[in-house]
Amino acid sequence: MNKTLPKQLQQIHTTMRSMARQLSDNDYRTQYHQDLSPLGWHVGHCVFIETYWLREIIFNDPSITSELDWLYIPENILKPKRGPALPPIKEHLQWCEKISNENLAIFEQPSSAYITHELNAKDYLLKFIIQHHSQHIETMAMVLTQRQLQLKPSSPSKNTLSASEEINYDFKYYSGGKFDVGSPLEPDAFDNELPPQQIELSDFLLSDSPVSNADWLAFIEAHGYQQNKYWGQDGWEWCKENKITQPESWVNDNHANFYEVTSLGANPLNPVAAVSGISYFEANAFIKWLQENSIQHKNIRLPHEYEWEVADKSGRLNRTGEVWEWCENLFHPYPGFKAFPYENYSKPWFDNNHFSLRGGSKYTQPSIRRSSFRNFYNPDKRHIFSGLRLAMPTS
Ligand SMILES: [Fe+2]
Repeated sequence: MNKTLPKQLQQIHTTMRSMARQLSDNDYRTQYHQDLSPLGWHVGHCVFIETYWLREIIFNDPSITSELDWLYIPENILKPKRGPALPPIKEHLQWCEKISNENLAIFEQPSSAYITHELNAKDYLLKFIIQHHSQHIETMAMVLTQRQLQLKPSSPSKNTLSASEEINYDFKYYSGGKFDVGSPLEPDAFDNELPPQQIELSDFLLSDSPVSNADWLAFIEAHGYQQNKYWGQDGWEWCKENKITQPESWVNDNHANFYEVTSLGANPLNPVAAVSGISYFEANAFIKWLQENSIQHKNIRLPHEYEWEVADKSGRLNRTGEVWEWCENLFHPYPGFKAFPYENYSKPWFDNNHFSLRGGSKYTQPSIRRSSFRNFYNPDKRHIFSGLRLAMPTS
């Protein structure tokens, strides 16, 4: 076994508990966003999930998990009921630490029953658990961001963002051809990255940086959010109904200046940093606006996720990992897809209403930063540290 894996798992548990310890008992169990469980639930769910796979599935010991599956299996309990059902924070964190330390000891000194189980071939289970928990850490950062947004931290005094006068991106040329997409690293890969497949692409151009805050402000100041013509019908209805006028994490101070709220509090908006907190609908409205208002961008579009992956695997794509980047295409199964390690990890989201995102945000853990990793959300979601990059045909 790769000895660094249990250490990584331990580090992840430590990170989770330290994110939790900054909160009061009430905040620990508060649901801050309709799509997000309370922070404390994530901590307990991760301990539950690893205990389920390790003890119930591998060692046939359901003594812990059978008593808690009503609370920690998402299908069994609605989000609003999760917070009130948690034990007091101190007690809960102590329980989480105890159980995860016991699990860690099993991972560190594996018995022969563990070693020979098919799920452990090439350290699959540990890698799966580390990546599962890593995704929850990012979701916990979303919870903390929503909490800060509700606390409305006051504006940082320095630095106000001003809109770009001209939108200007460097584009890189990528030659078309046949390429492999998906992950060949089977024990690391999630089911939706498999099986690896060959695809064909025409020549394409990708911007060398994601769309910036200053450019997004130019879209806002051009009244992009108020003009129907930049939005598809679904997007326009969503925008009006929800009174969307700016990225989710932006706040307007008393002097009409924007600043940003992160999981840690208020920050000035860096003009060149990637815009974050936008939906697929907004990304597409920005594209339409730019097509209409900038001659050199009249053919721009969002990248297809295969273009993104091929460009990233070439090593030439810059400034990835600042935001999840919306891709133009729907999340879909690769030919030969097989659900693994359980039926509903990816499959329910092949519903023609989820779009792929690639890259990763500043909250994305190293274990899930890879070219082939696929994220997926409905087109109206914007609590997810998402932005966009521009693509163009070559002629
Ligand atoms: Fe989970």
